[in-house]
This record gives sequence, structure tokens and C-alpha cells, in this order.
Amino acid sequence: MTAPLMDPFARPISYLRLSVTDRCDFRCAYCMSENMTFLPKKELLTLEELDRISSAFVRLGVEKLRITGGEPLVRRDILTYFRAMSRHLESGALKELTLTTNGSQLHRFAQDLADAGVRRVNISLDTLDAEKFARVTRWGRLDNVLRGIDAAQAAGLRVKINAVALKGFNEAELIPMTEWAGSRDMDLTWIEVMPMGEDFGTDDRLGQYWPLKDLRARLAETYTLTDLAERSGGPARYVRLEETGQKIGFITPLTHNFCESCNRVRLTCTGELYMCLGQEDRADLRAPLRASSDDDLLEEAIRAAIARKPKGHDFDYSRQTVSGQMTRHMSHTGG
Ligand code: GTP
Ligand code: 5AD
Ligand code: SF4
Repeated sequence: MTAPLMDPFARPISYLRLSVTDRCDFRCAYCMSENMTFLPKKELLTLEELDRISSAFVRLGVEKLRITGGEPLVRRDILTYFRAMSRHLESGALKELTLTTNGSQLHRFAQDLADAGVRRVNISLDTLDAEKFARVTRWGRLDNVLRGIDAAQAAGLRVKINAVALKGFNEAELIPMTEWAGSRDMDLTWIEVMPMGEDFGTDDRLGQYWPLKDLRARLAETYTLTDLAERSGGPARYVRLEETGQKIGFITPLTHNFCESCNRVRLTCTGELYMCLGQEDRADLRAPLRASSDDDLLEEAIRAAIARKPKGHDFDYSRQTVSGQMTRHMSHTGG
């Protein structure tokens, strides 16, 4: 049995976030610029390469595999990949196969994803107002996403909504979104906006930062919050709303760093492994993948990369200045 992956800070690495495309049918301002140039298709790992590299991570102890993008469901034939990965669920090596999606195509894929062994899905949705939704995504249609949510629930998938907390944008939707999520038996997680993308600081994005301790205090005016010890294997911390029993998550890279319990790495669609979302260091795994069919060499390259995993990010907004920001867009690593 191979030794599981362990980083230099004794954190076991059991969660791989795998981006399968840099493309997306939306252009959320905090995630992409309006005029993105997308990679030529030949730069992308093929479905067979994605399978080979994911399987190597599973052999090395990865138990949670989350497919991201861009928007993962715009990758052609992506179901073939999901179906192939279900063999690792069946063998018991993989505990969870899941995805984070913008929901726009989900109505077409929900049942097939469920059939491939996906049990829950995280859907990014920052507002329930169709006009505001079109604005934040630059042209997205809310009704398509709502249709995707319906289809996911009809297929038996558990749904979690991810909303980026944006001051002056969705503050007034805190309670309506909470009620909506509760009425549909969905968890809702709020995320602090991270300083990523080359336009950060040159526009009003810094002004949109809404610390989740403020959001939490606002929520506590309406509900009684109980902190939950449970974690989902991701970075969120959860509270239960005593009045409704529903769960609300907080992802707080700025106000409460969670790096000490980090268990994850990210592979881009071109095979670059980012050992940390908030740092630029990355390891090229496409080269060893294409250089040889020897999986031992690939596993060695993965271990060598994990041995470089840094302690954490340097994001900071304190004293009204921002530091640690990345020019890389969030879409590059899929969040
Ligand atoms: P669960 O399995 O439901 O816990 O999901 P998750 O939080 O692991 O995945 P999801 O794709 O829903 O992540 C939501 C967002 O949290 C990501 O898109 C990022 O914005 C942020 N996030 C996730 N992991 C990290 C991390 O390691 N560091 C930082 N800074 N942010 C992260
Ligand atoms: N800060 C925080 N979250 C972000 N996301 C994208 N860009 C950012 C950012 N700059 C979130 C999306 C989605 C996930 C993939 O990443 O809303 O939920
Ligand atoms: Fe892990 Fe880096 Fe995210 Fe911190 S910022 S939780 S170290 S990926």
C-alpha cells in the first residue's frame, strides 16, 4: 500500500479539485474578465489524461474529487469522464465525486450525473433577482439556473448554494436567500470575495468586500445561530439556524484563515498543479503525464509537488489596503 500524500506541514492531502475547462458561459466579474482569451483545445488534457491523472491521485489517497472549471458542464463529453470515475466510487477508494457548477446547463446533466454516482452538487448563485443575476454574470439567465436546481433535486442530488458576499449587491438578499434555500431544503454557503484577477484594485471590487462576521451578525438579528463542529471536507464552517433547522456555511479566507486544516490541491485543465489557491507556485504534471506511460513516474511527480505545498495564502484587506492579491483569475483554478 502506498503512503498517503502528506504535505510539509503534516496536512494529509485527500481532496483534489480538478478543473476540466477554462471556458465558462458566464463572466462573473470577480472570477473572469470580460474579454477572456481561452486556451486552444490542444492545450487541454484529454479525457483519457484526466482519467489517468485523477486515478493516480486516488491511488495516492485522494478520497474527494470535485470537478470544476470554468464551467465543468461546458466541457464536451464530460459525462464520459464522470462515468469513468464512478469505478473508483464502486471500489470504495473514492468517497465522493462531485462538482461545482454555475447551474446553467444542469437541467441537461442532472440525471446522468446522479446515475454516475454524484450525490451532491454545489451551485454558484449570488442573487435571486433576474436583472441583477444578468449583471453579475454579465449575461446569464437566472431561469436556466433555477431549472437546473429543480432538475438536480428531481434527480435526488443534494444541492448546496454558494453565494459570494458582495456589499452593495446582495446584502439585502441575505434573509430572502436564506428563506428560499431553507424552503427548498438546500444548504447555503457565503464566501468572502478574494482579491484575484488583474483588474482587482482598479475597479470597485475592493469596495464590494463584505466581511462575513458582519453578515453573520446581520443573520443573528433574525435567527438564533448555533455553531456546528461538523465540516464537509471543504473550508466552510457551519451554523444551524435554530428556528428553521437549516445549515448556513461561511467560507472566510479573509477574516478567519482556514489554511491550517487545508487538505486540498487544484489541477488546472492544462495539468498544472496549484498547491495553494492563494499562491502562484505550481507544478507541471502534463509533462510527466505525456512523457511516459509509467504511472510510478507520475506519482513521483505528484509527491514532489505536494512536498512544496506552502503554508497558506497571504490575502489581507486589513487597514483598507489589500495585499496578497493574485493577478490570476479564479476561473483558472476553479475556485
Ligand atoms: P464542500 O465539499 O461542499 O465543502 O465544498 P467546497 O467548499 O470544498 O467547494 P466549493 O467549490 O463549494 O468551494 C467554494 C469556494 O470556496 C471556492 O470556490 C473558493 O472560492 C473557496 N475555497 C475553496 N477551497 C478554498 C481554499 O482552499 N482556499 C481558499 N482561500 N478558498 C477556498
Ligand atoms: N472570491 C471568492 N469566490 C469566488 N468565486 C469565484 N471568484 C471568486 C472570488 N474572487 C467562487 C464562485 C464559485 C466558486 C467556483 O468560486 O462564486 O462559487
Ligand atoms: Fe489551502 Fe491555500 Fe486555500 Fe489556504 S489558501 S486553504 S493553504 S489552498
